[in-house]
Amino acid sequence: MTRKLDVTIGNVNEVYDGAGGILWEMLMGEQIHVGAESETDVLARKAGVGSGTHLLDVCSALGGPARYLAKNYDCHVTGLDATQRMHAEAIRRTEDAALSGKLDFVLGNALDMPFAANSFDVVWGQDAWCYITDKQRLIGECARVLKPGGLLAFTDWLETGPMTDGEWTALNTFMVFPYMETLEGYAALAEQAGLTVVEKEDLTPDFAAHVQTYLDMVRNDFRQAIVDNYGQEMYDAVEQGITLWRDASAAGKVGRGRVIARK
Ligand SMILES: C[S@@+](CC[C@H](N)C(=O)[O-])C[C@H]1O[C@@H](n2cnc3c(N)ncnc32)[C@H](O)[C@@H]1O
Repeated sequence: MTRKLDVTIGNVNEVYDGAGGILWEMLMGEQIHVGAESETDVLARKAGVGSGTHLLDVCSALGGPARYLAKNYDCHVTGLDATQRMHAEAIRRTEDAALSGKLDFVLGNALDMPFAANSFDVVWGQDAWCYITDKQRLIGECARVLKPGGLLAFTDWLETGPMTDGEWTALNTFMVFPYMETLEGYAALAEQAGLTVVEKEDLTPDFAAHVQTYLDMVRNDFRQAIVDNYGQEMYDAVEQGITLWRDASAAGKVGRGRVIARK
């Protein structure tokens, strides 16, 4: 049986309404995922995003990828996110970028999407679904709102190797993840939801290199800012948590993957 921490959407909202959202933006930029724009380009090419595509970004956060896609691929993006600060910031930054005509943002839960069936050409996610408490229901919702022939395209942080209960609990608790899927687990969920998996790729070695970079940034670039704004205790917790992730990713226990599936 899948191990699961008792994480609620309220806990996730606390992270992204507060210091967590600010910290991840410091480390990753306003596209809050591993690999920034280049990873968005890879996923966009694999998903065939182009002029006329209506794409749903599930867990769109600050709307960084949504604006990048609308601007560079001439598509229309709907962003869905459950955290008020992320939703409000996405709208504000999109207005500032004069892109409001190509984007809309909806405040809501990915487990109960406020969209009709068969609405989107592409349903998209980047490094966010690890926060979601029921991945089977999430993938079912993605499949429901995809148009027939449309593509599900996402990356996520994954469980990639055996670990003790203590390691598993520490890694997920630090990130406020209820649990992580495996690459095979996601592929199976997509097939169960009636989709056909076109491609799945393990990106774990690249992930470990990025986690090392985040640890170096925390230690060398942001130590003083974190201490000044949030205190030494917070700094110590962040450094310790990212060190755990650095060690586990270097050992191949946690990683990242990409899945493309067609309805
Ligand atoms: C790592 S950020 C996403 C980053 C974004 N995909 C990007 O590339 O910029 C995680 C986001 O997932 C959102 N989230 C987590 N669980 C959610 C849920 N059940 N429904 C909607 N949004 C959720 C959080 O509010 C947060 O903004």
